[in-house]
Amino acid sequence: MTDAPKKLHIKTYGCQMNVYDSERMAEAMGAQGYQLTDDPAEADMVLLNTCHIREKAAEKVYSDLGRLRPFKEAKPDLKIGVAGCVAQAEGAEIMRRMPLVDLVVGSQNYHRLPEMVAATERGEKPVDTEFPTEDRFELLPERPASNRPTAFLTVQEGCDKFCAFCVVPYTRGAEISRPVARIMAEAEKLVAKGVKEITLLGQNVNGYHGEGQGGAWGLGRLVRELARIEGLERIRYTTSHPNDMADDLIEAHGAEAKLMPYLHLPVQSGSDRILKLMNRHHTAEDYLRLIERIRAARPDIMLSSDFIAGFPGESDADHQASLDLIRAVGYGAAFSFKYSPRPGTPAANREGVASEVADARLQELQALITAQQHAAQEAMVGREVGVLFEKPGRLPGQWVGKSDYLQAVHVSAPAENLQGTLRKVRITASAPNSLAGELL
Ligand code: 5AD
Ligand code: SF4
Repeated sequence: MTDAPKKLHIKTYGCQMNVYDSERMAEAMGAQGYQLTDDPAEADMVLLNTCHIREKAAEKVYSDLGRLRPFKEAKPDLKIGVAGCVAQAEGAEIMRRMPLVDLVVGSQNYHRLPEMVAATERGEKPVDTEFPTEDRFELLPERPASNRPTAFLTVQEGCDKFCAFCVVPYTRGAEISRPVARIMAEAEKLVAKGVKEITLLGQNVNGYHGEGQGGAWGLGRLVRELARIEGLERIRYTTSHPNDMADDLIEAHGAEAKLMPYLHLPVQSGSDRILKLMNRHHTAEDYLRLIERIRAARPDIMLSSDFIAGFPGESDADHQASLDLIRAVGYGAAFSFKYSPRPGTPAANREGVASEVADARLQELQALITAQQHAAQEAMVGREVGVLFEKPGRLPGQWVGKSDYLQAVHVSAPAENLQGTLRKVRITASAPNSLAGELL
């Protein structure tokens, strides 16, 4: 053992899957005596857990690596690692472009991180971007206690949908579902450690088809089984594909009180022509009918989505169709992105929309989405809603948590310790990104 514990700094880019992976990497390194630090200047090891989904996200990794150069010059023993989807996609190429990188670990190989770090200490520069055959999460150490009442739990990885714009099927591979028994065991351990809310994660989470009693289980059945865990109060899942919203999952939204009334269901475009070019295998009308069925099961459900502006071939009329769809659904929140050609994807070689046109469309999408989000926030005023408190707020006596609908809620309760408690709150005021309320 060394005298002082070594320090690890992790920067996470991109999706919630990466947030979960970063936590598991921190735990794997924690078992080796590494402590997390927010400050890269005091770190012995810096890990960038990267995202390849859009060009900007991937290029940011290289500029961030450039920014680490002075740290490495000041401390030659500093180890720099690149993990995640850029690592998976580019492998050893990262070291050729950025020789200061000491290790490259693809998203499937985090269990190998401790031995790879040990190799860097011997002066080696390990790279591992293989897809293993085992359940990679089983190879990681058990999750330690934490004081947070919420946790992510990966149940599914990879994607078989091959949307024409998306790198995920290439970076995260084919769809794999973890067996029910392992998910249940991990969930039970989390709950025993004080977790009250679990978000089930997967790139295509509602395509879940894990091995359970009597055959493959869908996500609806898994949710119902998880809901039986005493002490687990809330279940969420993300991200879903419209074509995988099975009947029993929709029913679970009506029948299972622990399944929270918030659903992120990306549609990407409101134009049938573009949906076809995107290889989505559904129309705008299919999506709207699906939303109706989900709302019939759970009328108060809050919906969210992703939209892409300027996909190759998108006309003004196609863009208007996206705006129409947004108006027809009425989202509580949504994300929109400017199309970014990704190497190796079918759309990458198609002739694109002019950049200024895509920018203008993106702004229009964002303005409409923002207006809907503000309206949804305002509509909360006067309502009573469950809030799971996660941490003290910035003001003295203040606590912050998330509503059933995933909105940030602040309350003032100087006399109480609300950390980790689920309480009923009356919403008294709304702001664009948060709500204020009082305990009932
Ligand atoms: N360009 C722009 N947005 C993209 N997304 C995925 N790939 C691309 C791309 N090439 C968006 C989709 C997806 C979200 C996670 O990122 O909207 O749902
Ligand atoms: Fe980015 Fe997709 Fe990888 Fe998540 S899975 S890090 S969103 S490329």
